Amino acid sequence: MKYLVTSALPYANAPLHLGHVLEIVQTDVWVRHKNLTKDEALYFCASDTHGTPIMLKAKELNITAEELIDDLHKKHHQTFKSFNVKLANFHSTHSEENKELTAEIFLKALEKKYIHKKKISQLFDEKEQIFLSDRFVKGTCPSCGAEDQYGDACEKCGSTYDALDLIDPKSVLTNTVPVIKESEHYFFKLNELQTFLKTNIQHISRQTPIKAKLDEWLDKDLKDWDVSRDEPYFGFNIPGETTKYIYVWMDAPVGYLASIKNWSIKNKIDFEELINKENVKLVHFIGKDIVYFHLLFWPAMLKTFDVNNLDEVFVHGFLTIEGNKMSKSKGNFILADNALKYANPDYYRYYLCSKLNTDISDIDFALDDFIQKINSDLIGKFINIGSRTQNFLVKLNNSEIAAGNIKKSESFKPSYQEIIDLVDRKEYSKALKNIMVIADKINAYVSNQEPWNKAKNGEEDKCIDICSEALNVFKDLTILLQPFIPSIAEKIFKLLNTETLNYDDLSKDNLNKVQKFQPFISRLEKNDFDGILD
Ligand code: 2FM
Ligand code: ZN
Repeated sequence: MKYLVTSALPYANAPLHLGHVLEIVQTDVWVRHKNLTKDEALYFCASDTHGTPIMLKAKELNITAEELIDDLHKKHHQTFKSFNVKLANFHSTHSEENKELTAEIFLKALEKKYIHKKKISQLFDEKEQIFLSDRFVKGTCPSCGAEDQYGDACEKCGSTYDALDLIDPKSVLTNTVPVIKESEHYFFKLNELQTFLKTNIQHISRQTPIKAKLDEWLDKDLKDWDVSRDEPYFGFNIPGETTKYIYVWMDAPVGYLASIKNWSIKNKIDFEELINKENVKLVHFIGKDIVYFHLLFWPAMLKTFDVNNLDEVFVHGFLTIEGNKMSKSKGNFILADNALKYANPDYYRYYLCSKLNTDISDIDFALDDFIQKINSDLIGKFINIGSRTQNFLVKLNNSEIAAGNIKKSESFKPSYQEIIDLVDRKEYSKALKNIMVIADKINAYVSNQEPWNKAKNGEEDKCIDICSEALNVFKDLTILLQPFIPSIAEKIFKLLNTETLNYDDLSKDNLNKVQKFQPFISRLEKNDFDGILD
């Protein structure tokens, strides 16, 4: 099977934060894992570049929207690389491929009569000469009377409403009172595809709370989706229109395909053929805030486009910091690039994955816990296996691993398979726990066998055998940890004088020589982290 895997496309208006890292690492781990099996996986991403916030941000910075998105595209791409995330392609929704594919989907939807036009009334800021989307208007909640609420929902009482029902609405942009203005919009009639959605997309979510949500949505009438915006807007024109644009949320997921198409062109692969192959599957990793777009709108768009291989939409919870919502204004925010100044990227990868599983509860980053987990698991348990055994072989056995010492490694074979299955099901937290259980066992074995005493007492052969047993397991654990901590694993493979290994190399007597063990990663200390919060 070939998996084309994506994570949500980051908005090109701000640098990435640790919440983004959580998702891109979760995706990268799964892709790397698949590539250690007989399957193949490729990770595609892109900048999400359109919409009002990007247009306004560029205006505020006195640059063009193109300049803004180009700058952030480069920065985001670098951040992916810095966190050892291996992308097949990082493209942009502001691209020829996306323009063409979006227009194609739009026109097909028109032709199939999924899209129709309708006049609607909206709040309009006369000073800025712009229609106000829900996030750009604030007023008093029509249900509970709470002041300063956005145009779509009240944060106090939780009710949702139409922006036109807000009491005393004010434009967030100019603080003026908006007027009501009519305009013709294009709507995607999701209801037309309700039967298809009900019968064909149940399999794309295997997570209980998400499946329940999907059933709940599909049991009711699906609302028409407004897929157009009036000028001024930064995006693609609706085919045949000059003042109307395609809503950013329509062209954004098409950006997944655009990135794949751009990669196909660069690699001389037939894109249409690729995405329609039986053995090619699309898998999306997303946060729980954008489930509706991916479980309803996106499958409906793919259906319009006759692409039928959406295999899974996998959802994770939000990242919290020290138990609280990430918030820039409250100083509880970690920028991805800033985090890199304080610790090895693989440490963040390991820690975040040690908390990730398949439920959609929030994942907390807590500094003390982070430090403790890295010091105890990665350094105290895992690296410890190599650091306490390797140099005996250098000294006593001409740096060679003695052949045939594979009993321990073989005894863990069923556990290895369980771990691989857990990673496959994206149960990273459980997988890492199981890996550490094996590390504990092999450390206990070394402690009990005391190879250092054997070396002292003239039992060098025994010392060599014990260390060889331990190092074969160390190698296995490195293979299993490789998707999570790729740069550390690479260094260990070098110390073990071997090429990168895959799951087929588990429990095999495939090591020859080792190098002298050099400590190459260090423990974390709390006082090194001053300034990590933005
Ligand atoms: O929520 C977001 O950050 C969006 N930029 C995600 C888009 S995902 C996809 F649909 F493009
Ligand atoms: Zn309210």
